[in-house]
Amino acid sequence: MINELLKKATWLNNEDIRPYVFVRHENEIAQPGSFHKLDWFKQKPIFKDPLDITEIAFADRIYSLEERAFGPSNMAMPRWVFYDCAVMPGFVAGFAARPKVLSKLVREVLDPKKYPASLSPIKTSKVLKEIESLDEMDWVPLSLFIIIPTMHKGEWVAHNLCSVNSLLPKEEQFYGLGFLSKAFGLWYANVEQCSGMTQWGSPALKLHSHYGHLEVIGAYAPVHSHAKTITYRVQVNTHCWEKFFNKEIDLAFLEHYGPTGTFIDPKSEESMLDFQQRIEREEGPFFLSAGEIAQKKLEDKLMIYQMKQQY
Ligand SMILES: CC(C)(COP(=O)(O)OP(=O)(O)OC[C@H]1O[C@@H](n2cnc3c(N)ncnc32)[C@H](O)[C@@H]1OP(=O)(O)O)[C@@H](O)C(=O)NCCC(=O)NCCS
Repeated sequence: MINELLKKATWLNNEDIRPYVFVRHENEIAQPGSFHKLDWFKQKPIFKDPLDITEIAFADRIYSLEERAFGPSNMAMPRWVFYDCAVMPGFVAGFAARPKVLSKLVREVLDPKKYPASLSPIKTSKVLKEIESLDEMDWVPLSLFIIIPTMHKGEWVAHNLCSVNSLLPKEEQFYGLGFLSKAFGLWYANVEQCSGMTQWGSPALKLHSHYGHLEVIGAYAPVHSHAKTITYRVQVNTHCWEKFFNKEIDLAFLEHYGPTGTFIDPKSEESMLDFQQRIEREEGPFFLSAGEIAQKKLEDKLMIYQMKQQY
């Protein structure tokens, strides 16, 4: 599979693009990559310490990327949320590049002068070093995946996923960057169960559904600032990961789950509420098919599946 992966994500072969881990020392993973058997991430990750103030430029590039990707949906992450709710309890993973290997356009999109991070103290501080150009950085982050452990043993929450691809035209994109950023984080931290939240109709669902069979644990979230949010959980299974690239049918999914004959409509709040009520009545568990999500348009209705022995 690694060869097939490298055919599509050619940038993964580049020595100057490496996975990174932005983690405080106390949160470092003891035996990274020891649970899931996978040969995708051979390059040694770059370590950055968020509590080291000389690394502020790295954090600011993460912010700048994130606020442009999530700004349009009014969900840009405030700096204190990144610090209090991400860096302190969990860690950030992703891919970073040596500035010299980036194309003119990618450099422009990541340029610290053109796109400074909001509210960064780097501009006014007498101690922190302001970066004039990307070339002053050893590594520039291209993506971010934030994952936080929960009180439920073995379960983590995927809090944020973002890739520079969302700011680039297709021909300049790093295929699979968003997908592989989350894959790397899950593999690295030996994550067995991963929950997460995303908005119905988001392209991110194409990615999130490929890390293991996706159970819908919430179809409507009025507590969230965006009520039209799906809350999901997967038992992480690396056999599903390669299907993101090779688009093969997931026979294990079809063997275990069958269609309920009912759909969730990502354009209809009523459909979300109906689905939510079925979940609350404990008629589930309910699942979505990654293969189907991959084939459909973002706004299309999706079949709701159930385990075959539930019939
Ligand atoms: C969603 C996001 C993380 C995806 O990462 P990415 O690096 O662009 O995507 P990848 O290269 O890993 O995956 C490519 C696949 O996703 C699909 N995809 C990515 N963005 C898409 C979009 N806007 N619309 C439709 N499909 C999209 C591609 O078509 C491709 O699928 P294919 O193999 O069937 O062609 C990225 O677009 C992003 O940062 N978006 C803004 C922030 C956001 O919404 N984050 C998710 C919150 S949960």
